Amino acid sequence: MRITIIGHGYVGLVTACVFADFGNEITVIGHTKEKIDRLKQGDPIIYEPGLKELLEKNLKAKRLNFVLDYSSVKTSEIVFIAVGTPPKNNGEADLSTVFTVAKKIGQNLSNKKNHFTVVSCKSTVPVGTNKIIEKILKENAPQDAEFSVASCPEFLREGTAIYDTLNPDRVVIGSESNKANEILLKLHQPINTKKVVTDLTSAELIKYVSNAMLATKISFANLISFYAEKVGADVEAVLDAVGLDQRIGRIFMNPGIGYGGSCLPKDVMALIDVGKKLGIDTGFLEEIEKINLLTRKNFLKKVVNNTNGKNLAIWGLAFKPYTDDIRFAPSIFIIENLLKKGYKIDVYDPAAMENIKKIFDKKLTYHNNLYQCIIGKEALLILTEWNEFKQVDLNKVRKLLKKPVIFDGRNIYNPQLMKNFGFNYYSIGRPVV
Ligand code: UDX
Repeated sequence: MRITIIGHGYVGLVTACVFADFGNEITVIGHTKEKIDRLKQGDPIIYEPGLKELLEKNLKAKRLNFVLDYSSVKTSEIVFIAVGTPPKNNGEADLSTVFTVAKKIGQNLSNKKNHFTVVSCKSTVPVGTNKIIEKILKENAPQDAEFSVASCPEFLREGTAIYDTLNPDRVVIGSESNKANEILLKLHQPINTKKVVTDLTSAELIKYVSNAMLATKISFANLISFYAEKVGADVEAVLDAVGLDQRIGRIFMNPGIGYGGSCLPKDVMALIDVGKKLGIDTGFLEEIEKINLLTRKNFLKKVVNNTNGKNLAIWGLAFKPYTDDIRFAPSIFIIENLLKKGYKIDVYDPAAMENIKKIFDKKLTYHNNLYQCIIGKEALLILTEWNEFKQVDLNKVRKLLKKPVIFDGRNIYNPQLMKNFGFNYYSIGRPVV
């Protein structure tokens, strides 16, 4: 099939590479020449395991093309919109790029007889947005152009984006047009999973509800960690047992320093914004956000109350492992507040250091080696659960630190083990040892 994808971020580029790999002919449209040139050379720009290899393979096979102009829209069966929808200050999703792109798509749609185009939004957009996209397309499309809009939300996670695209728990397709549904079903045919075909509005809502539910699970786990800390229980033991109830499950209930990233925070905010506009009481969702912030504040309090000196080391800056993404990362909030309190901070992250430098520049000291980062420091803070931190030489860590103090925001170590190694170990929702 011939497909055009607008946007080459996590969703756009991963979708492009995976569907090119199935044998489709994909054109990706961007708006910065420098980035398009890098993509053409096989540089994915973003950090995502396996993506560079898939990009290079499909460039070589000439199934992937990167361009700045919209002419490929004319000959495509499907046009995916995969541009960013960042939150505005009031939480509302900023749809300006989506609408600009929709106008350009409309202007470039084919009016050839028997050519039908599906315009499908993969960007996460508030309920009702696809109807606006449809209106923009109609206003700008040539007369007689045959097309339909559809929503085909993406559920991929950063760090496992290719695996998730190839093995999703479900594919959701929503449109008022049977023809559009059939074309999208045909495209997803190689993906062996349950296909949910529904109306446009329900598909839009499914995406927000999925992310809000994931955020709910995380905030619930963090709330229980507050209880555990007050009463001296072990939150991991509590959640392990609770999660064995198959109606509840343990997955995505890891307590820590809260959810970050480009989706969960933004989508909860946007769902609150939509709810308010619809006159719905959004208190429940607001509480999820409140707990997410509280869990970071609690962690900060623990650090401040239990350190004397001002020199700290941080391992882990990315919002989660296997990504260099720091959007809404808990590390940013924690570093900002520690700097305000006069702490000097040395940092190490296997992937996200360049991005953190863009925010904090000379305010932090950067290390390429995790052991060097901790030499002579009052304490070590762990903010991302990278695998390489899980089996470090703990004797060496204790000797290099000025004081054997670790604040673990991701519960990666066993408290008893840390006690045996002679650490003062503060984790989330578990007794201090
Ligand atoms: C999320 C959704 O999982 C994905 O389906 C959607 O398409 C995009 O948003 P992503 O943002 O890549 O994916 O990361 P995810 O793995 O969901 O983690 C989000 C945040 O929650 C991270 O900061 C992570 O550390 C945190 N998290 C996750 C927890 O604190 N506890 C958990 O149990 C799980």
